[in-house]
Amino acid sequence: MRGSRIVNCLCGAILALTALAVPSVLRAQDGYDLWLRYAPLDGEALERLRRLDLHPVASDSDASDPTVELALNELERGLAGLQNAPEEIPADGTPIVLQCDSDLPGPSGHYAVQPYARDSAQGIGIWASEPIGCLYGAFALLRALAQGEDPLTLNLASAPAMPLRMLNHWDNPDGHVERGYAGRSIFDWWRLPGHLDQRMIDYARANASIGINAVVVNNVNARAEMLEPRYIERLARLADAWRPYGIRVYLSARFSAPRDIGRLDTADPLEPAVRAWWQAKADEIYAAIPDFGGFLVKANSEGQPGPQDYGRSHADGANMLAEALGGRGTVIWRAFVYSAEDDTDRAAQAYAEFVPLDGQFADNVIVQVKNGPIDFQPREPFHPMFGAMPNTRLMLEAQITKEYLGFATHLAYLAPMWEEVLQSDTGRDGTVAQVIAPAGMAGVANTGSDRNWSGSHFDQANWYAFGRLAWDPTLSSADIAREWAAQTWSREPATLDTIESIMMDSRQAVVDYMTPLGLAHLMGTGHHYGPALWVCDLARPEWNPCYYHRADAEGIGFDRTATGSDQLAQYAGQVAARWQDPATISDDYLLWFHRVSWQHTTQSGRPLWDELVYRYDHGVSTVDSMAARWASLEGQIDARRYRDVSEYLAIQQAEARWWRDASIAYWQSINGLPLPEGSSAPAHSLEHYQSLTFPEAPGDT
Ligand code: GCU
Repeated sequence: MRGSRIVNCLCGAILALTALAVPSVLRAQDGYDLWLRYAPLDGEALERLRRLDLHPVASDSDASDPTVELALNELERGLAGLQNAPEEIPADGTPIVLQCDSDLPGPSGHYAVQPYARDSAQGIGIWASEPIGCLYGAFALLRALAQGEDPLTLNLASAPAMPLRMLNHWDNPDGHVERGYAGRSIFDWWRLPGHLDQRMIDYARANASIGINAVVVNNVNARAEMLEPRYIERLARLADAWRPYGIRVYLSARFSAPRDIGRLDTADPLEPAVRAWWQAKADEIYAAIPDFGGFLVKANSEGQPGPQDYGRSHADGANMLAEALGGRGTVIWRAFVYSAEDDTDRAAQAYAEFVPLDGQFADNVIVQVKNGPIDFQPREPFHPMFGAMPNTRLMLEAQITKEYLGFATHLAYLAPMWEEVLQSDTGRDGTVAQVIAPAGMAGVANTGSDRNWSGSHFDQANWYAFGRLAWDPTLSSADIAREWAAQTWSREPATLDTIESIMMDSRQAVVDYMTPLGLAHLMGTGHHYGPALWVCDLARPEWNPCYYHRADAEGIGFDRTATGSDQLAQYAGQVAARWQDPATISDDYLLWFHRVSWQHTTQSGRPLWDELVYRYDHGVSTVDSMAARWASLEGQIDARRYRDVSEYLAIQQAEARWWRDASIAYWQSINGLPLPEGSSAPAHSLEHYQSLTFPEAPGDT
């Protein structure tokens, strides 16, 4: 320990010399350090920290715990970075005292960080009732310090709002990531269990810093082999490495595994041999991983096997697995179902299948529901299942990877979208955030082998914001943007203002140039890249963009009222009432719930067609302005990341125009209407846009 501190001293000295030449904010960055850069403070914040000479110490009873050790190390590392000083523990100065077995009441993970004065000595206390609370508290303290806050005025008592704060990786064992835009999978199954890549530690640390405590390592479109002994052994190595960071591992389980790898001729959940197989499998996993979290299951959805293959219900399937896990773990059963045989509105199907099963799921089953009733679109109304199953624990599934929001090359900060959903009042059981509080939130991860983890520097913000909102869904997306940017980019207030403004405009910009006014699912089929509004001939109706927009010469939109699919009736009365009338509904949801004429008067006062074109133009001009705002930061941001973002914004500008032009060309081919005055004609013919193909687009299955 001593020796390594001496080495660190030397490194620190070299760093300090480098710092003389280049202002810290401009030092070369490749994005690997995420929001955990601990870039040196300056001015008064730096002076204050140096004056205090903070040093972390653990109370004797905690000192040997590996999680407490991580907290101490993190504090040392953070303080050294923030002060641009060696990682050397000062002998005296102000202590940061970790008391991790205190009787502070609260749910697992809670902490309090406060200054204290005892006799004439002052210090900062991190109080928790278990080590993981201390680690979270240490990260909270460093987060505050990294934003330049005064440690002597802090009061950071906090507790997680929900027990499960989970990432779902759609990573296949061969390294391909379904809907992944950041390279290959970060999980190196081939070299596990013999070799554990440092990335696995850095990943766990990043997750712990934002409170994420559960990870499903494989795709919901699961391969049964992930349940075989050789993968259990590999998973055990990950579980051991992540345990000190408070992270439990989960597996996506393929429902037909007893047949696929178990040599049974059925996977019927009521068949005793099948039940015994899962029981034995669970026991085998727990023998290797005593704190294994449980199974995530996609069943009878998009071709995946499930209990309905045997005439059984989702509850039969989930409860069979729940019994195998017993009190040791949780079954997370996905409600993302829609069927080829069902010709009712796709948006209505999950509710219709699951709500009648309310009360039938075992206590250790959670039903995981996507934020909206279709599929992670740039904007959807909240899913009507939230609030409609009072006797079932429901968990929210959000998508961090941007399958439908321009992949990694479009800048879209997703926290405003999640905030919109979390704060939606279900009209039955409080807000969505309140409904999911006993269960949790899952985010489909956007990590990959790219050096910057997320495929783009700004997509790191979506990983960050997901964790922060799962910890505390009452946080505002703007505050999260600012706190992330201060740690990731710069603390300079004008720079922060600019970055925050870009982030906060970005999601609505995507909505406007892709799917304005409640339109949805108009992306290229399969890979979901670019516009394909004209596709109408795929085998399953709901795979076609035409199914969603229903445009013809008279009008456009999906009638989900009583005159149409009546999906609106799945919402509580007061919610449905808000969306019932096309004359009063918010323009954001107009074409989601209503089919209206091209001349329909929108809330803006403009006719629908004019408003649609206005929105496209607004989306494009917002991206132009985002790029201009970013350009104004040249010289304020390290050169490499500045250029990375600039190049992506140029791609986004071109693709926003493409979306706008292709969409307008298509609508005009249907409605024959002239463009509103002042709006420019599409750059190319509709045939040109229709002829484009992208066989190399990433992320498809
Ligand atoms: C979307 C996505 C699929 C994914 C599915 C799911 O449909 O395109 O790749 O498998 O969601 O959530 O199960």
